[in-house]
Amino acid sequence: MADKKTFYITTPIYYPSGKLTIGNAYTSVAADSMARYKRSQGYDTFFLTGDDEHGLKIEQKAQEQGIKPQEYVDKMAASYKELWKLLDISYDKFIRTTDKEHVEAVQKIFERLLKQGDIYLGEYTGWYSVEDEEYFTESQLAEVYKDDEGNVIGGKAPSGHEVRLVKEPSYFFRMSKYADRLVEYYKEHPEFILPHSREKEMINNFIKPGLEDLSVTRTTIDWGIPVPSDPKHVVYVWIDALSNYISALGYASDHDELFKKYWPADVHLVGKEIVRFHTIYWPIMLMALDLPLPKQIFGHGWVLMKDGKMSKSKGNAVYPEMIVGRYGLDALRYYLMRAIPFGSDGIFTPEDFVERVNFDLANDLGNLLNRTVSMINQYQQGQVAPVASEQDEFGLDLQKTAAETIADYKAQMDNLHFSQALDSIWKLISRANKYIDETTPWILNKEEKKAELSRVMTNLAESLRLVAILISPIMTQSPVKIFKQLGLDWDNAAQKDLNFGGFGWDIKVTEKPQPIFPRLKNEEEVKYIKEEMKKAKPKKQSRRQQQAQTSDNFITIDDFDKVKIQVGQVLSVEPVKGSSKLLCFQLDFGNGQKRQILSGIRKFYPDESQLLGKKVLAVVNLKPRKMLGMESQGMLLSSEKDGQVKLAIVGDEHELGADLG
Ligand code: ME8
Ligand code: MG
Repeated sequence: MADKKTFYITTPIYYPSGKLTIGNAYTSVAADSMARYKRSQGYDTFFLTGDDEHGLKIEQKAQEQGIKPQEYVDKMAASYKELWKLLDISYDKFIRTTDKEHVEAVQKIFERLLKQGDIYLGEYTGWYSVEDEEYFTESQLAEVYKDDEGNVIGGKAPSGHEVRLVKEPSYFFRMSKYADRLVEYYKEHPEFILPHSREKEMINNFIKPGLEDLSVTRTTIDWGIPVPSDPKHVVYVWIDALSNYISALGYASDHDELFKKYWPADVHLVGKEIVRFHTIYWPIMLMALDLPLPKQIFGHGWVLMKDGKMSKSKGNAVYPEMIVGRYGLDALRYYLMRAIPFGSDGIFTPEDFVERVNFDLANDLGNLLNRTVSMINQYQQGQVAPVASEQDEFGLDLQKTAAETIADYKAQMDNLHFSQALDSIWKLISRANKYIDETTPWILNKEEKKAELSRVMTNLAESLRLVAILISPIMTQSPVKIFKQLGLDWDNAAQKDLNFGGFGWDIKVTEKPQPIFPRLKNEEEVKYIKEEMKKAKPKKQSRRQQQAQTSDNFITIDDFDKVKIQVGQVLSVEPVKGSSKLLCFQLDFGNGQKRQILSGIRKFYPDESQLLGKKVLAVVNLKPRKMLGMESQGMLLSSEKDGQVKLAIVGDEHELGADLG
């Protein structure tokens, strides 16, 4: 027997840096819908998801909670699996980048590329954003801060997050070597990057200007996969993360059956902000490894809030648990797949959500089911006759719509057009609702036109049976409920034939009609969601409040080690315009490292020029903050007694950039 067709689909592996939002759920629900659809079409499907557990951001999160990174990621991975269970995400494997098998695969991949000469040792200088886990060249920054001499001393990544300068020995990947082959590959595979607009973006913004070799190791981070032949380096998170798509299948291990069976992937689903990694770095890695490339990278759009992209770190998130808890899983899954056409951005608003649930689910679908089951009970004591071979004009038109819907639905689903597929299904639902108005079963009943009435009831039941099957990849709970109310059995394959009349009926409905989507009170629910969104926002705490919460007055040596204090020299100092308190310092920390720090000591130094050339102590790893539109990149240490503040000045024997501890 010929092997079954296979289908391999993946989601990004999410950073376990916080609770997952409906933004993350968006990708996972889409991937799940596709996996379920392909299974229903007879494909041997493998659906991979997981999390991306290494890197500085994760190390910091663990530190914040006072636990080891491994303990932290264990906890997060468990909570993600819980969420996917709640959302009926039918993944075949959940990969964690701390899995032994993954770590070994990444190490083998790295050593092989090193040996081949695709990776070489050099020195890295660049700007790093912790939040984005991404390195930037100066020209890629959205904003730069300069000192008086025009030296760049800081800036912002395109995401708006602060960046900091890093300089370290690093291994590099010869990306440039593969640039031409990559562009050639795009040309020969027009469906490789979807939507098409993203391909142009990659070529124009990243490849044409010249692909720079990519720094692929770090010496400044501990929480990562060590390079076996040079273990003070850890592998850059993106090289680590992208490898998950093959390590999960056992690539480079002694049991690579899954890899042989499923690779290359049919589609990697990713958000548009990481298309670059998946369509440039990942294909080049695979070329270097002499492996086939994935067939498709689909870069979908963002779930936006009124203030921009919804994200784990921004505090503007809607959490899936809240929506599912109050409105049910299918309301969430339906909303995500219907409201935001796959590939485009869409704004989540509580109003839009409530409206869709009411109109589409409670009214259109819910009422159709309710009326149908009620009438079957009332007019025919629950009996549903076989589909009649002869149909009147209305019946024929209903059948025609059903056939069109089924064909269009398949075409749309095959192209990941979830929203359009649902549009098609809702055309059939509307057509069936209209069919009730056209055939007026209550009149047929009054006039005792039994045969005609029975034909109408069967046609309605049959339409609903088809609708239940069609929505089932996207909505996982309603189809079972619809089947049950119609006297059908979801586990009976014969009842799931996807043709009008494909099931013979001749059964008795025993269930009483029950609304599957209760109608929502508009204003009340909008208010509810808004309040939940407010509650979910992390509250800012003052330093005092935080201190009051710690159980004793001691800190551990680890707490102290978190504070990085360095010796710097005052290059220039001037009062900040519009402030009676602030002085703005430009400081030199040696080795070309400069920073700007604002300090509220103006009134203690009426002649600030006396501070020029002095060596002072600065906390240099404090999160940069803005005051009066100017950025302060640290804090100067000073002493205070009886309201008098003095800057801590140290002697000349202390060298610039020396660490205190
Ligand atoms: O980028 N709208 O992880 P991540 C739509 N670890 N999709 C959204 C979204 C939103 N508002 N917010 C998140 C990473 N997503 C890396 C991936 S893969 C080898 C490594 C989804 O936790 C979307 O799929 O930042 C996006 O690409 C992903 O979550 C980012 O997740
Ligand atoms: Mg992100």
